[in-house]
Amino acid sequence: MNIIDIINKTKKSQELNEDEIAWLVKGYTNGDIPDYQMSAWLMAVCLNGLTEKETFALTAAMRDSGDILKLHLPFTADKHSTGGVGDKTSLIIGPIVAACGVCVAKMSGRGLGHTGGTIDKLESIEGYRTDLPLDEFERILRRTGFSIISQTGELCPADKKMYALRNATGTVDSISLICASIMSKKLATNADCLVLDVKYGSGAFMKTKEDAEKLAVLMERAGRSAGKKCKAVVTDMDSPLGRNIGNALEVKEAVEVLQGKVKGRLYDTCIELAADMLELAGKGTNDECRKYAEDAVSSKKALDVLRETIRLHGGNEKICDDTSLLPQPLLRYEIRATKDMKILGFNCEELGMTSLLLGAGRLSKEDKLDMSAGIVMNCEIGAQLAADDIIMTLYSTVCSDFSDAAVRALNAVKFEITEKPAYT
Ligand code: URA
Repeated sequence: MNIIDIINKTKKSQELNEDEIAWLVKGYTNGDIPDYQMSAWLMAVCLNGLTEKETFALTAAMRDSGDILKLHLPFTADKHSTGGVGDKTSLIIGPIVAACGVCVAKMSGRGLGHTGGTIDKLESIEGYRTDLPLDEFERILRRTGFSIISQTGELCPADKKMYALRNATGTVDSISLICASIMSKKLATNADCLVLDVKYGSGAFMKTKEDAEKLAVLMERAGRSAGKKCKAVVTDMDSPLGRNIGNALEVKEAVEVLQGKVKGRLYDTCIELAADMLELAGKGTNDECRKYAEDAVSSKKALDVLRETIRLHGGNEKICDDTSLLPQPLLRYEIRATKDMKILGFNCEELGMTSLLLGAGRLSKEDKLDMSAGIVMNCEIGAQLAADDIIMTLYSTVCSDFSDAAVRALNAVKFEITEKPAYT
């Protein structure tokens, strides 16, 4: 086998076999194949695609490039979202599913660029430790059925290297490569069942619903071909999920959902995904599981799970009853309608970047976060606003000059100027 033949085969759309793909991934991970040759192969994949068989072989080879997590627990469920703005669903769904008797063991990442990361959100809770060793992770899972930690061990070193290379060579946007990258990590985390939330729209990797559906089908098949129970759903990211964007602000909103105070699209999405996880775990039909999920919220059992999990992670569990104990911003800035207008939509990528400029996100791995920073949306798509009504409020402690963030925030709003509504 040699790398030139492999590049040429993909360039001519000839199918590679499993051995060739395993050889390629192993060679690149251990440094035998240099970046420039791997880049050429990745570009050929972007231009010509891979067959389903090749995609599954790539996923398996990447999964097998490092450790595979083995927990001493009877059955675990996991949920993965392909990245969004204001997406705090893991903090809500995990406790709901655990309260219904299915263990949710999750390893999550930090935010980079315009999307947030669950680990950063959890670290906005005073004292919460995300870097627990595996035995501690298992102890918490046995006690509450829910825990989220940052990635430990060497899971998928092939993806780490390939993802960095893809970012630097314009080869991120291939459905086959995205599928292999996400699914190899999920399969290495080794949950028994997996629900995938594939986002589309302005704040997502997939810009159209059609592409998101293609990715969803491919990821679901990749999971099943690796022997996992797997379901993928497609959700839109043309407006943020819920009202709040930013670390402590999102924890606050997640707690409010579990307190039963917040309904709407965020609540509905969480109930739907939780029901899918419970159904895959064999707890009943989808309708029955939806009812269990709703009951877990209304009975406050899911909130109890979150409270106890935070306590066992060393965090201040009192935030579940008093969200003012979360980091509070010192400064605020209101973005107001300049004229009477109808809100047509939001560019979530711009909202994510606004939040980043306020201090809630990072441009490089070393950047320090302002946990209090972020955005609260004061209106939804379709809202009819009068001049001077508030569209959104920006919050920060570290960013004393809001001008750059305000420009981006305004850029994120799609609107049409309307006649003054006739008041009667
Ligand atoms: N997220 C990943 O982990 N990998 C991709 O390729 C895209 C999104």
